Amino acid sequence: MNEKELILRAIEIKKNSYSPYSDFAVGAALLCADGEVFTGVNVENVSFGLTNCAERTAFFKAVSEGKRTFEAIAIVGKDTYLSPCGACRQVMAEFCDENFRIIFAKNENDYIVKTLGEILPFSFTEVDMK
Ligand code: THU
Repeated sequence: MNEKELILRAIEIKKNSYSPYSDFAVGAALLCADGEVFTGVNVENVSFGLTNCAERTAFFKAVSEGKRTFEAIAIVGKDTYLSPCGACRQVMAEFCDENFRIIFAKNENDYIVKTLGEILPFSFTEVDMK
């Protein structure tokens, strides 16, 4: 699965976004180390703080199906390189090392790639608990 294919999965799933309050649909596609892909959308709630971002939806789906090792996630919002919120970065840090790739995509031909180490340096991890 290459980057363009992963972005296309994120674009396709975005139509299932439940975002009546923000009207801001987001789609994500998470590539597991074994090649399987889990998609996710943002799921909003009238109690706004309960909203779950597309990235976390994809992670929680994958983790609840037993996946623990991940390579990359593609994220598609409107027409910017949509940057994951802090909560989603922290969830990524729970399961991924600094080489995990985040693909910020406007579309399958226009995207940038950063690593988790770049977008969440000096993160809080289990090492800090020892
Ligand atoms: N959102 C995501 O799903 N992912 C992001 O990276 C940023 C924000 C969602 C949450 C909310 O439903 C809407 O976008 C506006 O914040």
